[in-house]
Amino acid sequence: MNSILVTLLVFLGTQGYDHQSHALTLKIKHQPFPFTFHNQDSASSSVTQGFSGLFYTDDLYIGTPPLKVNMAIDTGSSPTWVQSAHCTECFNVSFPNFNPNNSITFHPMPSHHPLCVPIWFAPAGNFCQYSVGYVGHQFTKGDVGLDTFTFTHHDVTNNQTGHHHHRHHKTQIQNVAFGCGVVNRIPDLPAHPRPANPVSGILGLGRDHPSSFVLQLRDITLLKFSYCLPRRVGDEASLFFGEEAELKVPAGQIQTTPIVGPSDEFYYLNMTSMSLNGSILPIDPKLFTSDGYYGVVIDSGSQYSVFMDAVYQVVRKAMVSYFMDAWLLQPLPPNKTRSKMDLCYDITDIAAAAGGGRGGLFSVAPRMVFQFDGASLELNQETTFQIFDEFNEFCLMIESANKFESTNIFGAFQQFNHRFVYDVGASKLSFFPEKC
Ligand SMILES: *[C@@H]1O[C@H](CO)[C@@H](O)[C@H](O)[C@H]1NC(C)=O
Ligand SMILES: *[C@@H]1O[C@H](CO)[C@@H](O)[C@H](O)[C@H]1NC(C)=O
Ligand SMILES: *[C@@H]1O[C@H](CO)[C@@H](O)[C@H](O)[C@H]1NC(C)=O
Ligand SMILES: *[C@@H]1O[C@H](CO)[C@@H](O)[C@H](O)[C@H]1NC(C)=O
Ligand SMILES: *[C@@H]1O[C@H](CO)[C@@H](O)[C@H](O)[C@H]1NC(C)=O
Ligand SMILES: *[C@@H]1O[C@H](CO)[C@@H](O)[C@H](O)[C@H]1NC(C)=O
Repeated sequence: MNSILVTLLVFLGTQGYDHQSHALTLKIKHQPFPFTFHNQDSASSSVTQGFSGLFYTDDLYIGTPPLKVNMAIDTGSSPTWVQSAHCTECFNVSFPNFNPNNSITFHPMPSHHPLCVPIWFAPAGNFCQYSVGYVGHQFTKGDVGLDTFTFTHHDVTNNQTGHHHHRHHKTQIQNVAFGCGVVNRIPDLPAHPRPANPVSGILGLGRDHPSSFVLQLRDITLLKFSYCLPRRVGDEASLFFGEEAELKVPAGQIQTTPIVGPSDEFYYLNMTSMSLNGSILPIDPKLFTSDGYYGVVIDSGSQYSVFMDAVYQVVRKAMVSYFMDAWLLQPLPPNKTRSKMDLCYDITDIAAAAGGGRGGLFSVAPRMVFQFDGASLELNQETTFQIFDEFNEFCLMIESANKFESTNIFGAFQQFNHRFVYDVGASKLSFFPEKC
């Protein structure tokens, strides 16, 4: 299941980072439980094992001595933070909280520090504090600190004689700015028995604050990163920064679209249309940029895509008529769906349509394409639908933004099994299919 990491990371020793190195690799994991950062109230309690949308770092340590801290990777927000051992409102975490007292390299950020600027950071007396809210009234605030981040990285390569060659890399970066969460209003996991969160914070990759990991460490990241999100829970993949993030596939396979809107906003993409089973859906393209926003936000921290209701209803109607025309299937009434997704079919009906076999379940669904300015993303049925075995449901993993607080979001489920390269400096996003 684990992908073999074949990247070459410069070994930097333990003396801080070398300015000549413009690369960093992080191992990321698809977390096995429903998790609540960025999940929407109604959906988070329903999305159960077998699917989740959160990806987190698995080889990141903070402080001296280094403490392992897993963080969710989020392109939809900028501040990086972890729950502090000093928390007054806390959520359960499956590993020890970071305790600034125990790190000899920790310093509180002084209020005159160049990163202590709005909108997420603000001076408070001599020091700097942060405060961030997320979808679903989730909230965290606390003190901003500076400490050493250590990234370990394990390569396994096979040499010609078939021997496995293990290399252990360690990169340390001093004085990384991050929040120490004191008041953390993050709901606990809804599952029973409650597993503790496998992550205790967020690695912010947004572009709306200079503390964003990609902006703050621009000497290393060169304002560029890439990831490939594996669909299967438990699978591992990599998050690359800097030179490592550059594409190594023939140019003809690469799709590229501009990142639009001002540079202190989300990563907005100019979506122009959507198609289903080869037909363009009758959606006014203006709806993709409605509400004064600049387009569709690409977000690794949202579990799946949500669109303005006017957009979603067109998708829903086309999907319902497809299943009717192709298979004479009616969706489950909204009252009946237990997964709480909006458009679901009874899995028994789907299996019958697929000829009885379980293997072909997804073949029953149509293909969709998200068309962006200059680039098209072909979803396959497995990045459009999800099986919820425990509820006997087969559901569309796209919903209306109605229920939520935000508008058009291109979420993680529809990003599976592609590598996305964010060239923040050049304001463009590239992608190509990858088995990650
Ligand atoms: C950290 O150190 C301060 C000052 O010594 C102490 O008051 C506080 O209880 C410590 N907190 C933790 C969580 O260790
Ligand atoms: C953490 O989990 C324990 C045991 O499951 C529970 O008793 C406690 O209330 C939880 N803490 C929080 C802050 O929810
Ligand atoms: C392959 O690795 C083995 C074990 O580390 C080593 O003995 C051998 O010389 C290596 N072969 C080549 C061709 O590098
Ligand atoms: C899907 O598209 C194909 C090719 O255009 C067409 O033959 C088929 O009827 C369509 N299926 C449905 C259910 O619309
Ligand atoms: C949902 O169920 C309630 C009560 O069982 C019923 O009155 C209502 O019409 C149902 N709504 C839908 C959309 O099926
Ligand atoms: C979005 O793409 C369309 C089609 O290529 C183009 O006409 C339009 O100007 C673009 N909008 C922005 C804001 O870039």
